[in-house]
Amino acid sequence: MPRFLRRAAAVAVSLLLASNPIFAYELDVHSTDSIKNVARQLAADLMSMYSGNQPGQTPGLLPQPYYWWEAGALMGALVDYWYYTGDTTYNEITQQGLLHQVGPYNDFMPPNQTLTEGNDDQGFWGMAAMTAAEYNFQNPAKDKPQWLALAQAVFNTQAARWDTQHCNGGLRWQIFTWNNGFNYKNSISQACFFNIASRLALYTGNSTYAEWAVRTWDWMAGVGFIDDTYRVYDGATVEKNCTDLTPYEFSYNVGAFLLGAAAMVEYSNKAGEMNDVALWHERVDGLLNSTELIFFFGDDENDKVMIEVACEPVNLCDVDQQSFKAYLSRWMAATTKWAPWTFDRIKKLLQNSAQAAVKQCAGGDNGRMCGLKWANNSGEWDGTTGVGQQMAAMEVVLANMIEEAKQPVTNGTGGTSAGNPSAGGSDNGRVDPVKWQHGVITKGDRAGAAFVTFVLLAALLAALVFMLADETKTAGENWDNFRSTVSSHPGAQTTTAVNIVTGDGSATPEKSGKHVAQEESSGVSSDESPPSTKTVRDNALPSRQMPRRKPLSISSINSLPNGAASAPALHHPYIHPNSPLGVAGRGGDRR
Ligand SMILES: *[C@@H]1O[C@H](CO)[C@@H](O)[C@H](O)[C@H]1NC(C)=O
Ligand SMILES: *[C@@H]1O[C@H](CO)[C@@H](O)[C@H](O)[C@H]1NC(C)=O
Ligand SMILES: *[C@@H]1O[C@H](CO)[C@@H](O)[C@H](O)[C@H]1NC(C)=O
Ligand SMILES: *[C@@H]1O[C@H](CO)[C@@H](O)[C@H](O)[C@H]1NC(C)=O
Ligand SMILES: *[C@@H]1O[C@H](CO)[C@@H](O)[C@H](O)[C@H]1NC(C)=O
Ligand SMILES: *[C@@H]1O[C@H](CO)[C@@H](O)[C@H](O)[C@H]1NC(C)=O
Repeated sequence: MPRFLRRAAAVAVSLLLASNPIFAYELDVHSTDSIKNVARQLAADLMSMYSGNQPGQTPGLLPQPYYWWEAGALMGALVDYWYYTGDTTYNEITQQGLLHQVGPYNDFMPPNQTLTEGNDDQGFWGMAAMTAAEYNFQNPAKDKPQWLALAQAVFNTQAARWDTQHCNGGLRWQIFTWNNGFNYKNSISQACFFNIASRLALYTGNSTYAEWAVRTWDWMAGVGFIDDTYRVYDGATVEKNCTDLTPYEFSYNVGAFLLGAAAMVEYSNKAGEMNDVALWHERVDGLLNSTELIFFFGDDENDKVMIEVACEPVNLCDVDQQSFKAYLSRWMAATTKWAPWTFDRIKKLLQNSAQAAVKQCAGGDNGRMCGLKWANNSGEWDGTTGVGQQMAAMEVVLANMIEEAKQPVTNGTGGTSAGNPSAGGSDNGRVDPVKWQHGVITKGDRAGAAFVTFVLLAALLAALVFMLADETKTAGENWDNFRSTVSSHPGAQTTTAVNIVTGDGSATPEKSGKHVAQEESSGVSSDESPPSTKTVRDNALPSRQMPRRKPLSISSINSLPNGAASAPALHHPYIHPNSPLGVAGRGGDRR
């Protein structure tokens, strides 16, 4: 919606509510009562968008357009809500949601999601379970999967997927071979794995997890996904041996590494490895430096507010990206528990951000739903609402109580969650969704899966023909064309085929020449030369149409000294993972 329309809508809403004065949260970031009060209302508004606990609904799922992974992130946010406030209102719902989605092997690979599930998706559920263990969240009944074992299962299944055949290591984004994105290794998949591994190392004291955390970090640095100023970029493809870096920077990448690095400080401390303590201490500082530089915006040092800089300034954050500040807030706060020297610095940033965030909470039907734009904004509601916005506001407000919150536990310091070092074993190494059908799955399931596969394949073929057949060319030329498409050689291709996925999930293939263009935006404050923040031009990054964390082939890595990149040029057609074209992509069941 154009800005003026959005304004008009906002004004109309406030006129409708004219009998009440325009709502405004009064948040005193120094008062526990005030924080709890505000958080309680934010949580209630957040949960008004979740119906998984209601009759006929599926626990652990959010309605469209929210993906499965975000519901896992939501469960993590609810564990946080209880941890900070002690309010148990949502504990049963949280436990129910987490347990309903564990899948037949108790590793967060439920059959309904297997056609679309990525390592990062599984990782978000795994991190929620890990948090439940660290905070001593209520344990499930004995005959149910336990938090620690669930996190271990996610770790085990992912460690078994570590792929040394390409790029010298790393996890692929997707789990299953035919999923769109299987050829992409992205930072968030490594970030979730690193985060879980380092926290498991600390919780259990088992050095195997720590070795994997080290391996993951070293690989990230080796391949350049983390650069020497600790900036974290999106990912690259296996075809190019991970040299074709996509320079997007998203806040959840740096956040997940930050907390994992802090866990490694604490783990090394307990293990008495002082060299490692120093090493991870430096990495925490480096990550915090880049976090502040890239993901906080403000006129001066004392006034910096969190920003999802790749998409927020141009109103192009998609439904996933709208939630990322929730995780950066969550992980920055938690970092202070294991890296206590970061406290003053982090606290200030979270205070500013919480104060700015609640000013955004003046929209929606009830007049108090939160928008996205905390930074660089007078406080006027930006006209958006959603699970991501609401969760982010709640997490950043809660984070202001971090000094009062309990230290996370370990197995040796009061942790009560039962583990299983070989959890998830039955799923280990599975990269083929069909193989799994030989497990506990019924005949009916199998027939259903075969049918779905058939339909998807048929749709794939039809759409490919539609997209690629060019009657001026021979079938052979068309095939070459197709091959170059799927093997993602940037080559000389300039046409971009973007599949627009409409609200009902149907795909509208569209041949267009859309290119992502770059645009200079305002400067980010800094000492000498004002560096620039680069963002994308409006039609360049169609939010929902554009896959989240989607691999995009780019011609060159733009040098973006400060402020973040978000505008790689598209050089080859790609298939939207939500479209039936993406067979396994994020197709089928979009939830
Ligand atoms: C899978 O989908 C079916 C049908 O929609 C539903 O009944 C079931 O609860 C779902 N399972 C999970 C784990 O989401
Ligand atoms: C691929 O990259 C890795 C480092 O990321 C390097 O060690 C390896 O030699 C490269 N392989 C090829 C075939 O270039
Ligand atoms: C973080 O930034 C501070 C201040 O600019 C600098 O002194 C320090 O060396 C940086 N730390 C790392 C690890 O880059
Ligand atoms: C900050 O706001 C100004 C004025 O609306 C705008 O021109 C600029 O692009 C914004 N910068 C960022 C990083 O949001
Ligand atoms: C965790 O602690 C319990 C009792 O405190 C102990 O029996 C168990 O062996 C510990 N597990 C690990 C992996 O250290
Ligand atoms: C440590 O973790 C590894 C990896 O999961 C596992 O194979 C091993 O059995 C664990 N060791 C102990 C003592 O639990």
